[in-house]
Amino acid sequence: LALLGGILALAGLGCDANAHQSILSSTPWTLDGVGGPVAREQLLLFNVLLWTMVIVFVLVEGALLYAAIRFRRKPGDPLPPQTHGHTPLEIAWTIVPTILILGLGVWSVIVLFKLEPGEAIALARAEGREPLRVEAVGHQWWWEFRYEDPIPGSADDALVTTANEMRVPVNTPVIMELKSDDVIHSFWIPKLAGKQDVVPTKTNSMWFLAEETGMYYGQCAEFCGTAHAQMKFRVHVLEEADYNAWVDGFAEPVELSAEASRGQLVFLGDGQCVTCHTVGASDTVNPATGEGVQHGRMQTYIAYTKWLDKRAHERLEDVRTGNEPPTAFAAPNLTDFGCRTTLGAGLLDRNRESLRQWIRDPDGIKPGNRMSELAAIYQTRLDHRADLTETQLGDLVEYLSAQGP
Ligand code: CUA
Repeated sequence: LALLGGILALAGLGCDANAHQSILSSTPWTLDGVGGPVAREQLLLFNVLLWTMVIVFVLVEGALLYAAIRFRRKPGDPLPPQTHGHTPLEIAWTIVPTILILGLGVWSVIVLFKLEPGEAIALARAEGREPLRVEAVGHQWWWEFRYEDPIPGSADDALVTTANEMRVPVNTPVIMELKSDDVIHSFWIPKLAGKQDVVPTKTNSMWFLAEETGMYYGQCAEFCGTAHAQMKFRVHVLEEADYNAWVDGFAEPVELSAEASRGQLVFLGDGQCVTCHTVGASDTVNPATGEGVQHGRMQTYIAYTKWLDKRAHERLEDVRTGNEPPTAFAAPNLTDFGCRTTLGAGLLDRNRESLRQWIRDPDGIKPGNRMSELAAIYQTRLDHRADLTETQLGDLVEYLSAQGP
């Protein structure tokens, strides 16, 4: 019966969490810009710069070594003839590097302009559509992805907020708007595009286009504190229909089993999860009645965006004045949690067992993460600790695993 339940539960998922895993899975690798036009452009520039430098290095150092060995002073040698100046040679070694550096410089600037979002807009409009815009917010140590208009041109598409795993349609220009909640991070998807710094109080942008469906690795590429190395993310590139189904799922209510319903109460109550996390409409849920207001999500989202900007400034102010930072944290939105392949920003494969371990001891798995930090603050300041029973934990795991379009 349990097996049957498991099969049914899997069949009920609108998104196949493990689909497309195999195609492009491999270790992220800098010299692997094969996923789309931006990465190819960057890789070509990188390779030409690299090989130009290698050739210049070998020629110059080779000539130096040759001269040092061939013309070294031997005992009894007379002083060789002394020459001063060699006009053709001097003109040559002035003109050749000038041409090289100017050429590479001009080309670099041309590539830089191609990486600007304007190129993505032009590309999309040439096909009579708009590019997809995704906001990526860097947090210590995870990524938040917000889609204000997930299906460009569609009036009533749902608001989509997710974490650490973004989904995009294949062959679609995607503009990334990069913001930071705290310190400087860097957004990088080696096979598609990057890196671009993610800076507090500033919005940077870049774009990419994925030509093949599949899973692409992403990684924070700027040292940002304890768990910098564990600030990974994944980009799932889907067929357009699959992507649209995922987006539509955000507006669909999730059917909960009895266990999962009990888990929802843990989420909203004893577990304290709702302090930082959001599931579906629960950012506007009334904990007393358990009622959520679906349309409130957009308002909450807009308010949150403003708050984020304000908070980034406040944080800078806190750093300057030496004040304590705020004690409430933004945490991953879990609305499509059942679609995710990983936990803890790419640290663990997502399954019921790893989720259980993660909730029990997040610090043991990912030292420095904010979930442990907030639990400690609750414990010391409010004398309240989220000590869940095994049953509560089990229910909570069921509730979270059930989430997903
Ligand atoms: Cu964020 Cu390194």
